[in-house]
Amino acid sequence: MNFSKSPHLIQKMFDTIAERYDFNNNLISLGMHKKIKKLAVKKLKLNENSKILDLCTGTGDIALYLKKEFPSSDITAIDFSHEMISIAKNKSKNYDIKFLQADCISLPFDNDSFDVCTISFGLRNIENQNSALKEIYRVLKKDGIFMHLDFGKSSNFADKIFDFIVPPLVKIFYKNSIPYDYLLESKKTFKSPDELIKTFENYGFKFERRHDFLFGVISSQIMKK
Ligand SMILES: C[S@@+](CC[C@H](N)C(=O)[O-])C[C@H]1O[C@@H](n2cnc3c(N)ncnc32)[C@H](O)[C@@H]1O
Repeated sequence: MNFSKSPHLIQKMFDTIAERYDFNNNLISLGMHKKIKKLAVKKLKLNENSKILDLCTGTGDIALYLKKEFPSSDITAIDFSHEMISIAKNKSKNYDIKFLQADCISLPFDNDSFDVCTISFGLRNIENQNSALKEIYRVLKKDGIFMHLDFGKSSNFADKIFDFIVPPLVKIFYKNSIPYDYLLESKKTFKSPDELIKTFENYGFKFERRHDFLFGVISSQIMKK
């Protein structure tokens, strides 16, 4: 099946699944997505008082883990889905995090505003990745850090198990499996971590390091402006 990445449809899809997004993630990852996100945040090793922007924040996991790990940081988190953002706000109501509804392809921030930009399971869903990457580069300060986290597209055994387990689980639990068919399809067609690093370099970022989780099923690439 061919899925459209039209921003309007993607936004609508996330608005529709927002309420069950966390539950579904826990189910299909057997709770592991939280551990991996926390670990990816920990491995950032940031300076105190960093000014951080979390893009495609969804229900705000990364923003929340960043705030817990680096309490003195100043965190802004954006997403274009109103419903995802309202769940994020609710989950983080005891933490000082600014949540905004905004589109990654046109960020409402000045040049050189942030020390760190993070995007987790987000870039893959953006139709105009060219504009999003230009915007991330623009709003990062010189020497600023960009962390991208997503599936690693490895062809290893663990990845095959994921692709084998998720579709039947989804069919059992959900009448509407389109968002998860979309997930599997977008995962298949997305770039590998090595290709992503090359792409980020083409936008001016310099490669710092990469961390693989779950034998490469998920991977983070850390780049510098
Ligand atoms: C799979 S979720 C990831 C959420 C969260 N970062 C996580 O790791 O669980 C992708 C999110 O990207 C958002 N998104 C997709 N395209 C976007 C865009 N152009 N601008 C802002 N948000 C976008 C969607 O609304 C959705 O909440």
